[in-house]
Amino acid sequence: MKCAVILAGGKGTRMKADCPKVMCNVLFKPMIGHVIDAVKEAGAQDICVITGYKHEEVEAYLDADIKTALQEPQLGTGHAVMQATQFITAHKEDEILILNGDGPLMDAQTINKAYAYHKENNNSITLISAMVDDTDGIGHIKRDENGTLLRIVEHKDATEEEKKINESNAGCYWFNGADLLYALSNITNNNVQNEYYLTDSLEILINAGKNAGAYVVENSEVVLGANDRKQLNELNNIMRRNINTKLMLDGVDIPCTDGVMIGKDVKIGNSTVILPNTIILGDTVIGSGCTIGPNTYIDNSEIGNGVTLDNCKILDSTVEDDVDAGPFVKVRADSTLKKGVHIGNFVEVKNSVIGEGSKSAHLTYIGDSDVGSDVNFGCGTVTCNYDGKNKFRCKIGNGAFIGCNTNLIAPVEVGDKAYIAAGSTITDSIPSNALSIARARQVIKEGWVDIKKPYKEKK
Ligand code: UD1
Ligand code: MG
Repeated sequence: MKCAVILAGGKGTRMKADCPKVMCNVLFKPMIGHVIDAVKEAGAQDICVITGYKHEEVEAYLDADIKTALQEPQLGTGHAVMQATQFITAHKEDEILILNGDGPLMDAQTINKAYAYHKENNNSITLISAMVDDTDGIGHIKRDENGTLLRIVEHKDATEEEKKINESNAGCYWFNGADLLYALSNITNNNVQNEYYLTDSLEILINAGKNAGAYVVENSEVVLGANDRKQLNELNNIMRRNINTKLMLDGVDIPCTDGVMIGKDVKIGNSTVILPNTIILGDTVIGSGCTIGPNTYIDNSEIGNGVTLDNCKILDSTVEDDVDAGPFVKVRADSTLKKGVHIGNFVEVKNSVIGEGSKSAHLTYIGDSDVGSDVNFGCGTVTCNYDGKNKFRCKIGNGAFIGCNTNLIAPVEVGDKAYIAAGSTITDSIPSNALSIARARQVIKEGWVDIKKPYKEKK
């Protein structure tokens, strides 16, 4: 059985964040979320996360199937793993993956290749390493002249000579369970930072006559971690580029990737065009032949085929085939725009269903409403859904025509094919096929200005 311990207890002082470092986002998902995805994809069936600094925030984020162990105070990565002694003891017959929660680019393939290497060589410990250009802050992998592993030297403890070693410890290791317990019981804090370093396990196990190996990755990107905001930005750039490239190879058209940030769980069909400054997140699924963007933000939504979204914000909603929305449209949670709907500039839809082929071309708010098919909303329609305390729904029948500048005071129903005259404030339901006019009659007073005098007289 494969199982994993993920280290997430550190404050991450260098990040200067209010949240624990592992909760800092890469492509809008906490770093630890990416790590958990990789670990699960690699087949780990039992996972324990070490929490510490602001542990409630990490715990609140984790799914119920993930165990936690609290590290208080945080005395280093070795000390962090010691808090999982119970978990490790339960898995002492197993191979245990240990990895840092701040390395979101680690992937399941690398983890599994390292596992195969670990098993083939009957290792007690297999660490993942990579050749890197920037050696600042890394754990340097020290080998003898024959290339045999000796130990890991943390940058802060390294001599000038050791600092030149550019083989970096990824912070991702396979351990034999029983050997890990042995190593943990021998780690001390005899170093510059007075911390218990997990990395000391390597030398401890070598000295105990155990097999140790390093699986050196070809693509050094996967081992990168983020300790500060600059590194966080680099990780965002790398992940963003990798996702965009994969989408393009799958037939998604991204003529210019500027500002295009697409989360890794998003699915997009071929021949869909993504234009600049478009952010697509969560479990969003987009069909084919759509044009999305520019300047569009979509979170957790389902978008059909042939949809155009120009300067839109779409949240937790469904947009069916051939919808044309924008520019400057906001669709808030729990809305459905059915097939062929047109929503134009400065229209907001919230918690509403808009039926097939209905149109709202400009300056309208449709909230808490059930709208039929082929309805036309005139410019400036407002569903007045909130009385200051409670929200109420409006129901609008098929083929209704809502004149410009109509207020619909919810709850109210408009029957099929009914007309509402422009400028009406509708407080009572309207039967099908009726016309409703709810405005004051126009009055004309001839010659009135001769008495009042014009507003501005020409000199
Ligand atoms: C660590 C490694 C280093 C490696 C690097 C890769 C050690 C001693 N050093 O250094 O060899 O090159 O990762 O990114 O392991 N954490 C706890 N409790 C603590 C301290 C840290 O849970 O007391 C967690 C942090 O939340 C983080 C992870 O452990 O997720 C790594 O800690 P960090 O301080 O970032 O270690 P590095 O200095 O990056
Ligand atoms: Mg780190």
